[in-house]
Amino acid sequence: MEDVEKHFGAFHALKTINLTIGEGEVVVVIGPSGSGKSTLCRTINRLETIDSGRITIDGKDLPAEGKALARLRADVGMVFQSFNLFAHKTIKENVTLGPVKVRGQKAAEADKRAQELLTRVGVAHQADKYPAQLSGGQQQRVAIARALAMDPKVMLFDEPTSALDPEMINEVLDVMTSLARSGMTMVVVTHEMGFARRAADRVVFMADGQILEDTDPETFFTAPEHERAKDFLSKILTH
Ligand SMILES: Nc1ncnc2c1ncn2[C@@H]1O[C@H](COP(=O)(O)OP(=O)(O)OP(=O)(O)O)[C@@H](O)[C@H]1O
Ligand SMILES: [Mg+2]
Repeated sequence: MEDVEKHFGAFHALKTINLTIGEGEVVVVIGPSGSGKSTLCRTINRLETIDSGRITIDGKDLPAEGKALARLRADVGMVFQSFNLFAHKTIKENVTLGPVKVRGQKAAEADKRAQELLTRVGVAHQADKYPAQLSGGQQQRVAIARALAMDPKVMLFDEPTSALDPEMINEVLDVMTSLARSGMTMVVVTHEMGFARRAADRVVFMADGQILEDTDPETFFTAPEHERAKDFLSKILTH
């Protein structure tokens, strides 16, 4: 992202954002509510347009529309707080739909891959159930498998565990940690500091639409530069 600006009407939501993420890097984005974390994620797969600046993936500008945009969305997997699974489709169908429709995979091939991915996230035996029959943690792991089925270049996670009951948070974070270790490029908005310490290469701290800190987790947690970051950390670490 180069000099990215974004307004919602008169409100300046992203202020001169410069952020480069290398292949295989895991970047955790944290910051107070309303600081622009979700907006930042959403601009990367063009769920939000930007006013000015540039966003490139693999050296290419984000496409504006049409088939190229659909391909971009396939290249940039996104996992949200709410799981957004298709309620009327089985777990396996949720995972095979994109590869068949967007990537043009054969049904048998998509099926095999879905089964592998569901195994990887630990819900293989739920493949023929419907989303409502799964726990929140299981549904979120299916959402991760569904995004991975598209063979994305980068995965965006926007507070993937914040709607989950405490006992289900770790099972989702474990899947994300193993994904991070497998070399996936990831942008993760989360307040799970254990995950940040364990899996992140960098922590980006946002406040008021700006990136205030962009450093390694150790430095961020032990010696943040800005008062805003110190204040934020003292709140979440004592919480
Ligand atoms: N579609 C929209 N229209 C108008 N304002 C918006 C829109 N989306 C976001 N905003 C505003 O932009 C700011 C940043 O929102 P964003 O959702 O990116 O924050 P966030 O850091 O993800 O917060 P949270 O931690 O609560 O999820 C907020 O003040 C929000 O009200
Ligand atoms: Mg948000």
